[in-house]
Amino acid sequence: MLLTNVIYFVACNNGVNSEAKSMDTTRSTNDSGYTKPGITEKAFGNYDGQEVKEFTITNASGSQVSILNYGGTVTKLLVPDRNGTMGDVVLGFDSFEGYLQKNDPYFGSLVGRYANRIANAKFTLDGKTYTLAGNNNGNSLHGGNKGFDKVIWTAEKLGDNSLKLTYQSKDGEEGYPGNLTAQVVYTLDSDNSFKLDYTATTDKATPVNLTSHCYFNLSAGRDSTILNHQLQIDADRYTPVDEKLIPTGKIANVRGTPMDFTSPKLIGRDISSVKGGFDHNWVLNKQGNALEKVVSLYDSTSGRLMEVFTTEPGMQFYSGNFLDGSLQYTKNGQKYIKHGALCLEAQHFPDSPNEPSFPNVILKPGETYRHTTVYKFSTK
Ligand code: BGC
Repeated sequence: MLLTNVIYFVACNNGVNSEAKSMDTTRSTNDSGYTKPGITEKAFGNYDGQEVKEFTITNASGSQVSILNYGGTVTKLLVPDRNGTMGDVVLGFDSFEGYLQKNDPYFGSLVGRYANRIANAKFTLDGKTYTLAGNNNGNSLHGGNKGFDKVIWTAEKLGDNSLKLTYQSKDGEEGYPGNLTAQVVYTLDSDNSFKLDYTATTDKATPVNLTSHCYFNLSAGRDSTILNHQLQIDADRYTPVDEKLIPTGKIANVRGTPMDFTSPKLIGRDISSVKGGFDHNWVLNKQGNALEKVVSLYDSTSGRLMEVFTTEPGMQFYSGNFLDGSLQYTKNGQKYIKHGALCLEAQHFPDSPNEPSFPNVILKPGETYRHTTVYKFSTK
């Protein structure tokens, strides 16, 4: 066994997109490439008088994911390219200041209590109307002004490859009814599957929609956009939206439209025919709530393939349309430009509390919300 402080310096194609990664973990690696799995933690900052910690899970093949107790934020996800070189496939910030900067676009966040939009920041439940923060053109986005992405979760290590985060959201918090206990278990398996298991319970009926808001660029800095990533979504239908990105309530067929990703397609191919870029919910073909593969994303420059499995009925594919290179803090000096990364947010459909025809999002006392999503990495 060789004990090493691993530092990766990978060739970069220009100054902006440097793929130099310095990893601060101490690993035990043997000649066959086996790394001792485990979880390390380090101080990352302070928030609301509480310590922000970064937990890093390392698996047996040396892949790593780093997660904050602040917002359950995924700060780094290191997986190998086709040559076995590790690269960080998610956008984020080097330091905690980045996560506090105005206009942080939910990099790596855990989003809740209701991910995505609720029209006019209002919904009616059991005859009562609830008003939320209208933080996005008068609509509510991603849980309001201080959603689950901006709170401290209680962290607990489970074995050598899982981290459990728990958050107690109070009755009335951000306008939502009911005391909600939310838990998310993050696991990095030895086959490079990054899994999120979500559960929640409540003491009053409430809408719940939890998701992970990682911004992926599988090239790990070699390509400044995701326009040359190839995407396949197992969905024949999607939910069309109005100009404020609220679903119209209709479910439309993707065939013959730019929304058709039923066969692998370069993201850049049709993006200019979609006003603003892709930012829609695809209605997955899967039936019921079994865990099934629904998305494949491939980057030919690095050979990285990411397959997404979920129990959820919908997938928001957001092509990083609002990134504009203006963020003051980033990671490794990169510039995060328009379409610099994409999100694949497994979830229930946007605005479901106001659309009775969409799958139910109301959690009642005595029930348990359950959602599993897996991002599985390999190469080809
Ligand atoms: C939404 C985008 C929004 C982004 C915020 C995505 O989930 O679909 O419209 O701008 O989150 O960063």
